[in-house]
Amino acid sequence: MIKLATTYMGLALKNPILAGSSGLTNSVTQIKLLEKAGVGAVVLKSLFEEQIKIDVRSVISSNEQNTAYPEAEDYIRNYTKMNSVAKYLDYIREVKTAVSIPIIASINCTSVADWTDFARDIEAAGADALELNIYEMPVDRNISADSYDKVYIDILRSVKKKVKIPVSVKISFYFSNIIRVVDQLIANGASAVAMFNRFYTPDFNLDTLEFTTSEVMSLPTDLYRGLRWTGIVKGKLPKVEIAASTGIHDGQAAIKQILAGAQVVQLCSTLYLNGFGVVSEMEAELKKFMEKWSFESVNDFRGRMSYQNIKSPALYERAQFMKYFSDHQK
Ligand SMILES: Cc1cc2nc3c(=O)[nH]c(=O)nc-3n(C[C@H](O)[C@H](O)[C@H](O)COP(=O)(O)O)c2cc1C
Repeated sequence: MIKLATTYMGLALKNPILAGSSGLTNSVTQIKLLEKAGVGAVVLKSLFEEQIKIDVRSVISSNEQNTAYPEAEDYIRNYTKMNSVAKYLDYIREVKTAVSIPIIASINCTSVADWTDFARDIEAAGADALELNIYEMPVDRNISADSYDKVYIDILRSVKKKVKIPVSVKISFYFSNIIRVVDQLIANGASAVAMFNRFYTPDFNLDTLEFTTSEVMSLPTDLYRGLRWTGIVKGKLPKVEIAASTGIHDGQAAIKQILAGAQVVQLCSTLYLNGFGVVSEMEAELKKFMEKWSFESVNDFRGRMSYQNIKSPALYERAQFMKYFSDHQK
């Protein structure tokens, strides 16, 4: 009897396929459809710290009288902040009553600010877990890698002080030592890491010499960069729970990430590009694969091809790249 049921951060899931945070998880209607499509859980669209700041600035600048009354500015700042957050809390409550799958709220943070207090409200609104989508682009030559890493740890610690629900941290590729960062996150209370976020990437318009955005959606080939790190991180830190994200477009990609050690996979671009039907196709592919290899549960093959569990860990490293090119130069 094949079972897709699994756990993630202590939450019981009917399968390891999650809808990752995006515009698709920003409406109750879509979340109901995602539940119907079969996802095991949903990560809500992030509440953006920057958005809250922009809302505050625009309210303040639209009211000239504020300059005359600085205390009015403080009032507006607090009111607007509370209002942006209140809408998000209402949204969590609404989603929780509309569906029965676990709901993971998400906050995008760039600093340890007083607004991380809202984590407590997010818990009270009924979120089953919280994903911290931390965004820190290392662009300052005078700031060490350790100092950049510390921002992640400080935000996590500050949120962890306020909530009892499990907290995960969603990270990007931009670290000099991903394993060390994940190790520190887990040591400081993260129940999981989501690897990796995908940022808007800049591009240039050669006709106008202006900035533009490159492709927002991922490609199926984007899977491989993340796959390497799932395998290595899981191999080096076997207890860590990884939510794999980026380039998971079909069942085979999901199976590969679980073989590398992912606890769950998060889908985003494929839901936009291929529709929600992709979830049941993935489930079917997972079952077919498990049947072929006589695996009864996802645990039976999770991490089977992680860095720790393969005969030659060098396959995860550069050595294989060198071999490939030397073979192809003959
Ligand atoms: C349109 C769009 C909106 C997104 N919004 C968020 C967001 O609010 N919070 C977040 O943590 N990630 C956000 N993401 C990132 C996705 O959750 C995901 O990590 C990333 O797209 C990689 O997965 P994919 O290859 O399946 O798209 C967004 C991605 C897209 C394409």
